Amino acid sequence: MQTTAIYGSPRKNGNTDHMMDAFLEGAAHAGAEIHRIYVRDLHIAGCLGCGHCDQKGFCMQQDDMTPIYPLLEDSPRIVVASPIYFYGITGQLKLLVDRSQALYMKNQASSSIEPNAGTWKDRRGFLLSAGATRGQKLFDCAILCMRYFFDGLGMVYAGELCFRQLEEKAAVLAHPSALEECREMGRRFAARPDQ
Ligand SMILES: Cc1cc2nc3c(=O)[nH]c(=O)nc-3n(C[C@H](O)[C@H](O)[C@H](O)COP(=O)(O)O)c2cc1C
Repeated sequence: MQTTAIYGSPRKNGNTDHMMDAFLEGAAHAGAEIHRIYVRDLHIAGCLGCGHCDQKGFCMQQDDMTPIYPLLEDSPRIVVASPIYFYGITGQLKLLVDRSQALYMKNQASSSIEPNAGTWKDRRGFLLSAGATRGQKLFDCAILCMRYFFDGLGMVYAGELCFRQLEEKAAVLAHPSALEECREMGRRFAARPDQ
């Protein structure tokens, strides 16, 4: 199944990169065709709130977000990885999320003509995250943000795998089970329902 993977950390080879790589190993094992996006390599401007997409259904800004729109519209599976930054997702990833508003507006416009036109029920999104501390609510904001990101894309939020107490760059490599859990979840996430 075509799977778009969005790496949200500015830190190369950090914890969420390793988690995503393991998740995608599992997904590839299930036959996924994978498209990787590294937000740290992109120049995505912030949403201007200009209302252009409310009227036209697409964003007036042309930048590295432009080729990402078709992937967000068409991929049956999207997985996003982000470390926790100040109890939320990274700023670089948030720029991409905010710019997806154009697709939400496009879906709204088409579903006012044809109800549920923007929703394909078997399109699913998943979140991988890591944070340094132990707080009970550590992942709440990131989960809520991703839930509504996927909702705006007409996708079902399929869940998350989040790990606390990972601070140093590749701390996850010493975790007893995290990468295996990611691998197994990736396999299940990308498997066709009949597999
Ligand atoms: C700017 C910044 C803000 C952070 N904010 C938090 C935070 O609010 N809570 C937390 O537990 N960890 C926080 N961290 C730690 C990272 O979430 C943690 O180191 C994570 O494992 C980094 O993942 P990465 O290696 O994939 O970049 C922060 C780190 C940075 C650089």
